[in-house]
Amino acid sequence: MAFFLAYDPSTNPLNSNEWAFPVCEVMHIIGFATLIGTITMVDLRLLGVGMKKESAADLVRDTAPWTLFGLALVLISGPLIFSSDPNLYLANISFRFKITCLVLAIIYNYTIHRKVALSQTSGGLAAVVAVISLALWASVVFGGIFIAFV
Ligand code: HEM
Repeated sequence: MAFFLAYDPSTNPLNSNEWAFPVCEVMHIIGFATLIGTITMVDLRLLGVGMKKESAADLVRDTAPWTLFGLALVLISGPLIFSSDPNLYLANISFRFKITCLVLAIIYNYTIHRKVALSQTSGGLAAVVAVISLALWASVVFGGIFIAFV
């Protein structure tokens, strides 16, 4: 924390030219749209409301590289945006809420969610797992949007 307190944002190249921050924001949005878009496809299948031509197991395997690509983009662009003013964001309750939900969502996605999707489970358990997944990722997005409003 002491590092961030002593950190002077004006030394950050992200704050010294007009295009770096918006380029990071674009990467951020492409990243989470790809990440959450591919996970939502699997969740719609687990809920039995979409993608019925493919099994959840095939969908989770086919989308895995894109999900990882999206995750990589947000994990690069996010810290870059954060570095533009760490103290401002660390003091922001919506940012802290978002990062907490993000850690839970990533762990959940690569453990319970993947296990249930690959296990061909359908019905009640699959639906519960899908609803929890959608709620976690929606919380991350809302946490991100509300950074600017709290
Ligand atoms: C799946 C993961 C993520 C999602 C869905 C997400 C979503 C969002 C959204 C919707 C915004 C608001 C964009 C805007 O209003 O322009 C945002 C902004 C932001 N995100 Fe993320 N984010 C994710 C990961 C991260 C990570 C890992 C970090 C940093 C460690 C991060 C740092 C930020 C910061 C600092 C902002 C504020 C930008 C500003 O001041 O306009 N995000 N994020």
